[in-house]
Amino acid sequence: MQTLAQHLSSQGIQAPLAQLLTTLADTSKAISHAVRHGALAGVLGATEQENVQGETQKKLDVITNDMLKEALTADSTVRGLASEEEDHIVEVGQSGDFLVCFDPLDGSSNIDINSLVGTIFSVLPAPQGELSEQSFLQPGRQQVAAGYVLYGPSTMLALTTGQGVQLFTLNPETNEYLLTNEAMSISKDTAEFAINMSNQRFWEAPMQTYIADLLLGKIGPREKSFNMRWIAAMVGDVHRVLSRGGLFTYPTDNKNPEKPYKLRLMYEANPMSFLVEQAGGKASTGYETIMDIQPSEIHQRVAVILGSANEVDACLEYHGQDY
Ligand code: AHG
Ligand code: MN
Ligand code: MN
Ligand code: MN
Repeated sequence: MQTLAQHLSSQGIQAPLAQLLTTLADTSKAISHAVRHGALAGVLGATEQENVQGETQKKLDVITNDMLKEALTADSTVRGLASEEEDHIVEVGQSGDFLVCFDPLDGSSNIDINSLVGTIFSVLPAPQGELSEQSFLQPGRQQVAAGYVLYGPSTMLALTTGQGVQLFTLNPETNEYLLTNEAMSISKDTAEFAINMSNQRFWEAPMQTYIADLLLGKIGPREKSFNMRWIAAMVGDVHRVLSRGGLFTYPTDNKNPEKPYKLRLMYEANPMSFLVEQAGGKASTGYETIMDIQPSEIHQRVAVILGSANEVDACLEYHGQDY
């Protein structure tokens, strides 16, 4: 089995990007270690702080953010970073080639129940000149790499540099990532969907009708039975979609009219959309392809519908679009 380093070199990845991806992978090993020690290391539970999203930060949100920030700050290829847990962008170096956007701990409400959590990252080219928030506001299409790490029964790294999606498994004996799937591929069709059903009454009409039709099963217009899963960690749900197909959505809702979307574009939706497209799937808001959105701010939120191509298309038909 190839190591991550062997894989990056076999794909012809240039030294600066290989260095950055190695930094991210190495930091995820340390995060995996911290997550695994759980209560033994006193890392569970919440802090008294809120992040810019208005969420109470878990201790591990802060710890994992600090670990990534420290490692990326020490990496000469990094010009700047943006994180779910940082109010503002952070300038790192004067000459790095890359900007990194990340969600240090995804699914942090799962941490206290010992369930799936992950890390999500997106790598963008650093534009010339002075660094500002504006430098980060590039459509997802510009990403040079993206990935996630899933801290599950085994720790796995899913990575794309635009040459398909590769999956690595962390060998606990050697602490090395080994290539265990060289081309993840999402089946075109599926009979599985993922949505937080408790928000049903708050969705827009197209999503109400689409899900209602799935629930009708064989007697409905879709004429087949659908199964449902919800992990409450996007990393876990997207990993399932990449592994066996499916449709994952966190749609628009009017629970809080000031916050109609939950997931964040720059460090959740864009990197996951890059992975999903590279594995043959689709990712849309219902009205727009996610990776074509021109971002307006680093913590911007979007509706997300992603996964098996034919099922995303079926959902988009309800939204009056077919693309
Ligand atoms: P985070 O823990 O990084 O703030 O992200 C949580 C997100 C995402 O991972 C997940 O799909 C979604 O929130 C779960 O939302 P619900 O709690 O509404 O199910
Ligand atoms: Mn959060
Ligand atoms: Mn998240
Ligand atoms: Mn998070």
